[in-house]
Amino acid sequence: MKYLMILIALISCLSIQSEAQTQAEIDTKVENFLREHKNEWHDLNVPYVDGQTLHNIIVSHGYTSALEIGTSTGHSTIWLAWAMSKTGGKVVTLERNENRHKQALKNLEEAGLLKYVEAHLGNAHEMVKTLSGPFDFVFSDADKDWYKQYFIDVSPKLKPKGCYTTHNVIDGNAPQEYLDFVLADKKFETTIDRKSRSGIMISYKK
Ligand SMILES: C[S@@+](CC[C@H](N)C(=O)[O-])C[C@H]1O[C@@H](n2cnc3c(N)ncnc32)[C@H](O)[C@@H]1O
Repeated sequence: MKYLMILIALISCLSIQSEAQTQAEIDTKVENFLREHKNEWHDLNVPYVDGQTLHNIIVSHGYTSALEIGTSTGHSTIWLAWAMSKTGGKVVTLERNENRHKQALKNLEEAGLLKYVEAHLGNAHEMVKTLSGPFDFVFSDADKDWYKQYFIDVSPKLKPKGCYTTHNVIDGNAPQEYLDFVLADKKFETTIDRKSRSGIMISYKK
């Protein structure tokens, strides 16, 4: 009996260690990928620091169900998916440009993060209506003139305490009407992150 207990303890120790190694391996692969490609993001992709901010919000809150509107070639998706590798979650991401969608899949594969992502090709205006969610994290980064409608369609699918983020809110790209609309929504606590020139609006659902 004593030996059996020692054996069980040993096996669980080894499996904890191998899980830790797996995450360490993921981290190394993603870090290498991000370093090698740091200056190669030319498709309206988020700045590095904004990727970090999104990643940190997800990890610090333990979010597991993310929606990204606007994949492009996947820079932000890499940061979201990396966070999901740590929380045990998944990112659904939407893109209508086929070449960018395909390039994003290649990038995610190279970074070792494809298994944390469900990437859809098509018009997000329609796709967001068909997704049931619920989500605990949203990153809105597609067509700015549709930001308000995305918020109207998606925010009811956000869980309480979930986070809705919007990109390009201090560089003049997001319509002021949209910003005012979200800032006035009493169901959300909203702040603006100004670490990059783009800016991220961060809205936590109460
Ligand atoms: C600012 S880029 C996204 C950048 C990406 N989040 C990143 O950081 O790597 C916006 C993307 O949204 C896509 N887009 C614009 N309108 C869309 C729509 N209605 N449905 C799906 N994708 C759309 C564009 O093709 C473009 O690739």
